[in-house]
Amino acid sequence: MKKIVAINASPRKGWNTWSMVNEASEGARSKGTEVQFFDLYKLDKHAGCMSCFACKREKNAGKCVFPDGLAPVLEAIREADGLIIGSPNYLGDVSSEFHALYERLIFQTLTYKKNPSRYDYRRIPVLFIMTSNANKELYMPLGYKKMLKRYQDGFNDAVGNTKMLVAGNTLQVKDYSQFDWTIFDPQAKQEYHDNVFPKDLEKAFDYGVEMVDKAW
Ligand SMILES: Cc1cc2nc3c(=O)[nH]c(=O)nc-3n(C[C@H](O)[C@H](O)[C@H](O)COP(=O)(O)O)c2cc1C
Repeated sequence: MKKIVAINASPRKGWNTWSMVNEASEGARSKGTEVQFFDLYKLDKHAGCMSCFACKREKNAGKCVFPDGLAPVLEAIREADGLIIGSPNYLGDVSSEFHALYERLIFQTLTYKKNPSRYDYRRIPVLFIMTSNANKELYMPLGYKKMLKRYQDGFNDAVGNTKMLVAGNTLQVKDYSQFDWTIFDPQAKQEYHDNVFPKDLEKAFDYGVEMVDKAW
């Protein structure tokens, strides 16, 4: 595997989502694969799908060509052998930046024809990471599992086989005493961050290795 594209869809560089995506990238790099890293919130001005339908014109055939900050990311994914993408959970969903990219990545592949329903594209393995305040055990009762499955299905259909990794109960801020928050136990949060989050990072690293080794 020559090149993987890794994408952080959190505004906070160096925090939970970025760290998970970075660790998966390190796993891939440890196998000699080049990783091109994008921070979506740092890109030039861009938006989700502009509904121009240029991707459905014969000359573009399945390629989003809207010229903005997301264009180089979409181009890099089209040339990549794998995709690692992470989003924080925002209001029970992905971040708006994640969704902007997702709209353009997925919609470009649809033909709006009965047959074939999708343009030809090279399938690549995908790792979709989510970090959240909620612990993994709450994913089912809160409906997050269903939400994740929807994105997984979208990636499966339009990009390639997709594995999921969740890091829950994340540390939201360094110093909880600075905020007027009453629902968290700062000590328990810190302990979880110190003891469990490193294991989530290890899992991310292992997925990066596996993506290169098995190209699922
Ligand atoms: C706007 C906003 C909405 C959030 N909504 C949720 C939510 O619905 N469920 C949840 O579990 N965590 C929620 N969180 C917490 C984040 O998902 C969590 O802290 C995440 O790990 C942050 O990622 P980061 O450290 O990479 O920024 C929210 C945070 C923000 C800022």
